[in-house]
Amino acid sequence: MKKIGILFGQENTFPQAFIDRINEKKINGIMAEAVMIDKVMQADPTEYAVIIDRISQDVPFYRAYLKNAAISGTAVLNNPFWWSADEKFFNNALAIKTGVPVPKTVLLPSKERPDDTTENSFRNLKYPMDWDGIFEHIGFPAYMKPFAGGGWKNVYKLNNADEFFKSHSETGQLIMMLQEEIVFNEYFRCYCLGGNEVRIMQYEPRNPHHLRYVHDGPPLSQKLLDTVKDYTIKLNAALGYDFNTVEFAVRDGIPYAIDFCNPAPDADINSVGLENFEWVVETAANMAIKRAQEHKPGQMNLTWGTFVKNAVAPTTKKPAAKKTPAKKAPAKTTTPAAKATAVKKAPAKAAATKAKKETPAKTTTAATKKPVKKATTTKRKSK
Ligand SMILES: Nc1ncnc2c1ncn2[C@@H]1O[C@H](COP(=O)(O)OP(=O)(O)O)[C@@H](O)[C@H]1O
Ligand SMILES: [Mg+2]
Repeated sequence: MKKIGILFGQENTFPQAFIDRINEKKINGIMAEAVMIDKVMQADPTEYAVIIDRISQDVPFYRAYLKNAAISGTAVLNNPFWWSADEKFFNNALAIKTGVPVPKTVLLPSKERPDDTTENSFRNLKYPMDWDGIFEHIGFPAYMKPFAGGGWKNVYKLNNADEFFKSHSETGQLIMMLQEEIVFNEYFRCYCLGGNEVRIMQYEPRNPHHLRYVHDGPPLSQKLLDTVKDYTIKLNAALGYDFNTVEFAVRDGIPYAIDFCNPAPDADINSVGLENFEWVVETAANMAIKRAQEHKPGQMNLTWGTFVKNAVAPTTKKPAAKKTPAKKAPAKTTTPAAKATAVKKAPAKAAATKAKKETPAKTTTAATKKPVKKATTTKRKSK
């Protein structure tokens, strides 16, 4: 029997529907249930061939449980190692290398120093930063948002430098990005599952939450929809996510990827609506079943994006499996061979040191402060 488990938080509609859908299919040797944890022992395999992770972004204990599950062979969707490594700023850089348009974006040091640092920790930072250069590059109005985050928390729309400094002073220890505004006439939110199943949803972020998913919107050109689908697949191939959403703002016919680091995207029937919900339940169920059937006990069963795969093995080898989404990745993302060698040769010790340095848990109070825009009224991602 191959078991599929789902790990989830406060969401109420998707997890049970996902479990029921798999079990209703009555596929020989496959069953689904909610993951239940009573102890976590190192290198101890779980009873699950597949776990869908909807919550470890908010529960670090679960993230560590999932890494331990993965090393023992569970196919964890999404890959907990990659999810720990990436963030929105890096992803924007990756989008550029992948040939997907993104708004001009710069990274900003946090307003307040991280705990246990002093000004000596920042001697490599020029003071003041080249604010004029940054503002000239990005222009106003601009968006400022955390480099790791979601659910519209701490997202600011800023009209000038004064507003920028005032808002930035409210962001505590958060690392923020300043981003060019894309004044859009169309906006899409796209599910991407299994690397190639794409559901493009017309979305109007300026509407109240329950009216954001547009149902009878104006007709759209097939060419635009094809481009949006192509970009969605390209981004997820590079990132290696099994389950993600990508948001695009369309300006002058060009879709710019705005938000594509959503590995636990909202899938609540009350916000996405019945038809999208049905699609995501059915597609996620089929993806999980396929992964359970392909599961090889005791081996690595995770999905890795082409960014990592090309760095580790930038050889001329053809992709092995037909089904691997990575196949569709553009050649552009290749990383210099020198880097790959370094990665290969890195001793285990170095890897352990690096793991220790991971960003500490969010202790900042900044997240509770009120941003200029909407944060208090909008919904979080799955929690
Ligand atoms: N560069 C931008 N140009 C125009 N609108 C933006 C831009 N960045 C964010 N927004 C608006 O703010 C919303 C929230 O920002 P987003 O990047 O999606 O953050 P989150 O991950 O918190 O959802 C978007 O849905 C969009 O409406
Ligand atoms: Mg978003």
